[in-house]
Amino acid sequence: MWRLPLPALLLCCSALAAPAAAAADAVRGATLYAPCAACHGAQALGNPALQAPALAGQDAGYLARQLRNFRAGTRGATDGDTAGATMRAQLAPLPDDAAIDDVAAWLASLPAPRAAAVDGALLRNGSNYYQSKCGACHGARAEGNPALFAPRLAGLDAGYLARQYRNFAAGLRGTDPADRYGRQMRLMATALPAETDLRDVLGFIASQSQQE
Ligand code: HEC
Ligand code: HEC
Repeated sequence: MWRLPLPALLLCCSALAAPAAAAADAVRGATLYAPCAACHGAQALGNPALQAPALAGQDAGYLARQLRNFRAGTRGATDGDTAGATMRAQLAPLPDDAAIDDVAAWLASLPAPRAAAVDGALLRNGSNYYQSKCGACHGARAEGNPALFAPRLAGLDAGYLARQYRNFAAGLRGTDPADRYGRQMRLMATALPAETDLRDVLGFIASQSQQE
């Protein structure tokens, strides 16, 4: 069993990453966000019935990278990724990089959501697996770690998280050679031995959002 050499690897190379959007205009971002609210909600708390995740309180760099990935087709363009294709079709309000950075800055400034508890989850098993397989990158409380490009998971609904985990495992996300961070996550998407372990990990992640 390997002991997560990747975080160290990521740390070494983070200086090469694109600079954060220092001059992003969150006020303009709030205006740009208006059409997005139909799916993601007025406060960007998400809408599981539409498969639209919460965006509030997420790291701006992560959000901007996902929007560029959708635009470039490195996310959401694979056959079978219907939710990703839905999102890919929604980029017209964001015509350029400045608009993407502005909307990301606005979303990052909003309070992060709390996720509903996961039925049947065994939190102790979930905590054990989370801390040994996920926490080194995503943070001990699933709060995310921008230095490792790992997004916040706490507060995202379990249905969305499970779909993304399975998308990585199935090669619907994180296979494009240009998708460097998606490919790092894809390596981790076989780390949990059973579906019940994934359920338990998602239950643990949800419990962290309820403690904040
Ligand atoms: C028609 C509904 C719809 C609209 C409108 C919409 N989205 Fe989405 N969005 C989705 C869905 C569905 C997903 C989940 C895709 C997946 O499962 O991979 C998503 C995913 C995302 C993600 C990825 C989040 C993550 O955690 O990786 C971002 C960022 C995002 N949307 C931003 C926006 C922005 C900004 C707008 C407005 C310009 C917008 N969306 C408009 C449906 C929508
Ligand atoms: C080596 C570091 C690393 C480890 C360990 C890791 N991840 Fe990730 N994870 C990432 C990175 C980096 C991303 C962002 C990928 C991108 O930019 O598309 C990510 C993204 C995700 C996403 C998508 C979130 C979203 O908003 O769409 C989920 C879900 C996820 N990870 C779950 C897990 C789970 C569960 C584990 C443990 C089994 C885990 N990760 C372990 C680095 C890691």
